[in-house]
Amino acid sequence: MPSATGRNVFVTAQIVLISVLSVMSARAQAAPAEKPPMADDVFKNIQVLRGLTVDQFMGTMGFIAAALSMNCSECHDTSSSAAFASDNPRKQMARRMMVMVDAFNKANFGGKREVTCYSCHRGDARPKVTPSLAEQYGTPPPDDPDEIELPETPVPNTPTADQLFDKYIQALGGAQRLASVTSFVGRGTYEGFDTGSGKVPVDVYAKAPNQRTTIVHLTSGDNIRTSDGRNFWTTSTGTFLPIPVLVMTGGELEGAQLDAALSFPQQIKQMLKDWRTGFPATSIDGNDVEVVQGTSATNNPVKLYFDKKSGLLVRLVRYTNTALGLIPAQTDYSDYREVSGVKMPFHWTVTWTDGRSTIELSELRANTPIDAAKFARPAPSAPRNP
Ligand code: HEC
Ligand code: HEC
Repeated sequence: MPSATGRNVFVTAQIVLISVLSVMSARAQAAPAEKPPMADDVFKNIQVLRGLTVDQFMGTMGFIAAALSMNCSECHDTSSSAAFASDNPRKQMARRMMVMVDAFNKANFGGKREVTCYSCHRGDARPKVTPSLAEQYGTPPPDDPDEIELPETPVPNTPTADQLFDKYIQALGGAQRLASVTSFVGRGTYEGFDTGSGKVPVDVYAKAPNQRTTIVHLTSGDNIRTSDGRNFWTTSTGTFLPIPVLVMTGGELEGAQLDAALSFPQQIKQMLKDWRTGFPATSIDGNDVEVVQGTSATNNPVKLYFDKKSGLLVRLVRYTNTALGLIPAQTDYSDYREVSGVKMPFHWTVTWTDGRSTIELSELRANTPIDAAKFARPAPSAPRNP
């Protein structure tokens, strides 16, 4: 796994995307109320990835970085924001490769995206050419629980999605107690690519059914992620992005709506459609888990992992489409503690193609009134006084 911290020269948030072809239909399904900025207007030197919103474009960059295990700075001159858009042979090569992959899929697979950058590169700049005997005869790497696919015939005697949800709701304190919590405010620390290796204060606000705001107090100013149920905004504090507040679209918007709704987990069943179970047995950090998969409104898979013993949700992985391929984003939940009779995670780590961040709460209060302005479009923030 590449170093997640090294590559985050630019990045804003969990990033998402949508194939250039499906942009129009997907946007219709998960559309923000506010008109999103387009990459062609905001950036200076776009020649291939045209017609994408800024968040879709950034998601596509995340896909490339992940497929080749490269930092943004390995293709971009990050010495200044002016130099960032300049070309170099590697960037030109990446452009040619985008055109090549598109032509390849059209010529061989009726335009279906069967081959992506990852098919050849597998996390390397230079794809391997000759098969390796060491690989052929060696011990295969351990199974990645995120990679397990639903088999043709589901594994028998696995719990149904309903059974897993019922156990989860029970483990959290029961439907009645969950329904009595309609808002919460949390405080703690945040650690991520934008904080170096240090921790900074963070505030989390949530209001049922679907509003959620996270404010990270970076030294360069507050970084705010707000989802009001309809829009999802992120501020660009601490990044090169030339727009201070970005409204997200498509899968990124959908993911934020999911996160916000999961703050009030009694809604879990309604959040997605086509729930499926019957995955082979797997474990996370040595603990057995049950896997259930749902499908989002824009038809992307979302996997939930429940601890077999406690019944609690320990991981959520959702996939979002970019112009070049699907990218995963994973949240791992732990340290469940009781607040007003309901168990809530006090620790979670988000891992995505461009970085990893951890929030650790020290305090969480339920049913405190929250000013509606906390869930409104954030204002670009000024640097914090030291
Ligand atoms: C393998 C090379 C490669 C990597 C790695 C890469 N990019 Fe890019 N980037 C490109 C190419 C190629 C373009 C131009 C795309 C086009 O012309 O359609 C581009 C364009 C951009 C632009 C538009 C700049 C402008 O003003 O024209 C931004 C912003 C950007 N990339 C951000 C990133 C970020 C953030 C990362 C790390 C997550 C990243 N890129 C990683 C190849 C790369
Ligand atoms: C069919 C296989 C294949 C696919 C698919 C593919 N590549 Fe490549 N790519 C190669 C090979 C082979 C090389 C090495 C070529 C060389 O060294 O002359 C390469 C080289 C590159 C390089 C130059 C790396 C360096 O060392 O500087 C970049 C950047 C790159 N590819 C980006 C991409 C991107 C982005 C995609 C997806 C849009 C992609 N490639 C898809 C086969 C592939």
